[in-house]
Amino acid sequence: MDQERTLKNLLEKKTLKWIFVGGKGGVGKTTTSSSLATLLAQNGVKVLIISTDPAHNLCDCFDQKFSGKEPTPVAGIENLWGMEIDPTIDPNSLNFPDFEGFETDQSTKNFLSEIISQVPGIDEAMSFSALIKSLDKYNFDVVVFDTAPTGHTLRLLNFPNLLEKGIEKIIALKNKFQGILSSIAGQQNFDKLFGDLEEKKKTVQLVVNQMKDPNRTTFVAVCIPEFLSMYETDRLVYELAKYEIDIQNIVINQVLYPNETCKMCRSRAKMQKKYMDQILELYEDLHVVIVPLQESEVRGVENLKKFCQLLLTQQEIPKIPE
Ligand SMILES: Nc1ncnc2c1ncn2[C@@H]1O[C@H](COP(=O)(O)OP(=O)(O)OP(=O)(O)O)[C@@H](O)[C@H]1O
Ligand SMILES: [Mg+2]
Ligand SMILES: [Zn+2]
Repeated sequence: MDQERTLKNLLEKKTLKWIFVGGKGGVGKTTTSSSLATLLAQNGVKVLIISTDPAHNLCDCFDQKFSGKEPTPVAGIENLWGMEIDPTIDPNSLNFPDFEGFETDQSTKNFLSEIISQVPGIDEAMSFSALIKSLDKYNFDVVVFDTAPTGHTLRLLNFPNLLEKGIEKIIALKNKFQGILSSIAGQQNFDKLFGDLEEKKKTVQLVVNQMKDPNRTTFVAVCIPEFLSMYETDRLVYELAKYEIDIQNIVINQVLYPNETCKMCRSRAKMQKKYMDQILELYEDLHVVIVPLQESEVRGVENLKKFCQLLLTQQEIPKIPE
């Protein structure tokens, strides 16, 4: 079945809450996610775009500064907010479960970091889940995630699973060491620390469910038609399936439309076409969006708004002049 080669399906699916945009470094993740966020906002949806890439470049794309603490309105685009966060944190600064105002003594702290170290990645997962929770109060309709290059993003997507695993581990330890722990931490602290674990587990379960629900969460893979990027896209699609995360769209960015006169463009386009044909064939069930290489970089709101239109119009597959 031939799918329309645009991002329109994402605008039409009104149930979506989280859209993750990812791919290899430099392929156009920020440009694509910012454009998609802009399109949604123009449709009257209240949108937040979050960059989870420590090397942020939302600011370059929108040509404005963003805070890491709270959503900042994007100048020139109604209904759109932006935020740049740092998803890596210091594990020593954690309290698990994250009770505010809870004073832990050193031995309890040691115990907690011991548990945390038993589930690799749990620290990141916890800080990310705290971030997600902190967004509740703003009531965004959709959150678009501009993610870091693939490896990091896969860790991020695994965060609900990790949390689930972490909590189960803690519940098991709690049951095993109940007596010793309560005497170390004091019964009152013990209850505070471990009392509502089952409750926490339910909250995590809700996040897991949202992540795995194709009506609420989807992933957009961005690539360029070159070997390494193709290879990463395959890996991404494979891992997403493993995590049971939906994907409906692949953006092939920076596609050349050569003319007869330029030998360089013609030969690069030939190379691109080979990979493009592979993707179109392999992912015929998905919306594979072809985006032409532009003459200049995409910076600032006005350029971004023009770029948006490319994602909504089905582009021809380039023909290579002989
Ligand atoms: N189709 C295109 N035509 C021309 N320039 C483009 C196109 N898509 C993206 N660019 C430009 O390419 C550069 C990289 O794009 P972008 O920042 O979106 O990539 P990224 O995947 O987010 O990179 P990083 O991995 O560094 O975050 C930017 O300067 C952007 O303006
Ligand atoms: Mg980027
Ligand atoms: Zn040329």
